[in-house]
Amino acid sequence: MYFWLNKKWWVMIDQPFKQLFQLMRSWSSSEKKLRLCRIHHPLLGLRMKIMIMGMIQERSLLNCMRGLQILGSDAAEAQASKILAGLGFTKEMQVRATRSFSGGWRMRISLARALFVQPTLLLLDEPTNHLDLRAVLWLEEYLCRWKKTLVVVSHDRDFLNSVCSEIIHLHDLKLQLYRGNFDEFESGYEQRRKEMNKQFENHEKQVKAAKRSGNRVQQEKVKDRAKAAAAKDASKSKAKGRVDEDEPLAEAPKKWRDYSVEFHFPEPTELTPPLMQLIEVSFSYPNREDFRLSNVDVGIDMGTRVAIVGPNGAGKSTLLNLLAGDLVPSEGEVRRSQKLRIGRYSQHFVDLLTLEETPVQYLLRLHPDQEGLSKQEAVRAKLGKFGLPSHNHLTPIAKLSGGQKSRVVFTSISMSKPHILLLDEPTNHLDMQSIDALADALDEFTGGVVLVSHDSRLISRVCEDEERSEIWVVENGTVKTFPGTFEEYKEELQREIKSEVDD
Ligand SMILES: Nc1ncnc2c1ncn2[C@@H]1O[C@H](COP(=O)(O)OP(=O)(O)O)[C@@H](O)[C@H]1O
Ligand SMILES: [Mg+2]
Repeated sequence: MYFWLNKKWWVMIDQPFKQLFQLMRSWSSSEKKLRLCRIHHPLLGLRMKIMIMGMIQERSLLNCMRGLQILGSDAAEAQASKILAGLGFTKEMQVRATRSFSGGWRMRISLARALFVQPTLLLLDEPTNHLDLRAVLWLEEYLCRWKKTLVVVSHDRDFLNSVCSEIIHLHDLKLQLYRGNFDEFESGYEQRRKEMNKQFENHEKQVKAAKRSGNRVQQEKVKDRAKAAAAKDASKSKAKGRVDEDEPLAEAPKKWRDYSVEFHFPEPTELTPPLMQLIEVSFSYPNREDFRLSNVDVGIDMGTRVAIVGPNGAGKSTLLNLLAGDLVPSEGEVRRSQKLRIGRYSQHFVDLLTLEETPVQYLLRLHPDQEGLSKQEAVRAKLGKFGLPSHNHLTPIAKLSGGQKSRVVFTSISMSKPHILLLDEPTNHLDMQSIDALADALDEFTGGVVLVSHDSRLISRVCEDEERSEIWVVENGTVKTFPGTFEEYKEELQREIKSEVDD
């Protein structure tokens, strides 16, 4: 039996249970909501209760986890509670009806279910996207102890490094298996790329020489030699443990085309400090007595690197909105340098793009002063650098994927020549190359950076320079500066999590 956790739906599939799923397909959605399916499986001699998608809406979370258990397991409730707690559900939240949760929390519920049923094969598609840093570290720890098979798609380097023992890479329409964690994959990949490009260059030289000679027989010989070398290389890489699942026929070497992307934020103009300060600030939303940020005293200057951490719902995005001036404090004072330009990437920014415009129209409207002969070409060159393929430059934004839209947002931020970057979960829509490119760009950027992220590699890179880095912990209604480096903060969390999981 396996569970497939995906952005949209859940399925449990197993050959012997096929009939059940055929039956379920004929149920109306209201039936699915109420039905708890008890099946007796003659082959396995097991009686199982199986919950199906959609039906948990009206039930409390813990009830739902209980419903999933194979009958007879007493420890199930404690186990369910432990998983939910690890993923950030407080005791109070664990007994709330699942329909009262927002989309991000529902994803966590799905993830908790997947872990709880302990399937033989667990498939996870971007499981860290909706988690906060602590929950990512908890999941890492939990999956490191996972005895069964796990296949995970993720763009979180540190997570993959801890959890994976093999990496499958998709390149040139082929799947390549690399043994080891992500770092080992990277060095293996680089070595392979170099070898392939060297072979390609040699082959090119020989082809040119043969062509110059005008001798057809000689040209054929070059082709055959290249094929023989490719076949030999394929068998060698098999012996080294790099296995092509479906080895194609050997062919002449090709240039190894790597997708490359480069982010860049221009050097900001100098401003006198302080650039931005919140002094004794308090804030609450109207009609939300249960949430309040108080006694917030923070400041940012040129060059400052801040990582904001804290549980989901603690107020990290609210704090960024206060810094940006999108929210006005109920008490206290905000000071901002008059000429300050802020570049913002918000969690929901991609949804706010004007959709009927093309990326080029959108950027030219926001930033009409472009240098060069053609303004359009200048904008397109920038979009290209941020990794938006040229055929997408003139497509309406509505038709772009989340990742492509986020590239338009980053291009726009860069064109606004900001002094300070406020980035709220920038990695969710980016692939790993783009996250690296973002980290490189932030590294060379001389303005201030404030980052909310659950990607520990990105935070580590942004806060590399301990002198100018700060960790702000948003928790229990206030913001405190952590007295140490990000690595120390992470280690503290990991220690806590280890003892929880060991319990
Ligand atoms: N516009 C809003 N109106 C009312 N409540 C909000 C609004 N935005 C966020 N909240 C609430 O404020 C709290 C903090 O939210 P947020 O700052 O988004 O947290 P975080 O970014 O740390 O996950 C949450 O309880 C959230 O539901
Ligand atoms: Mg947030």
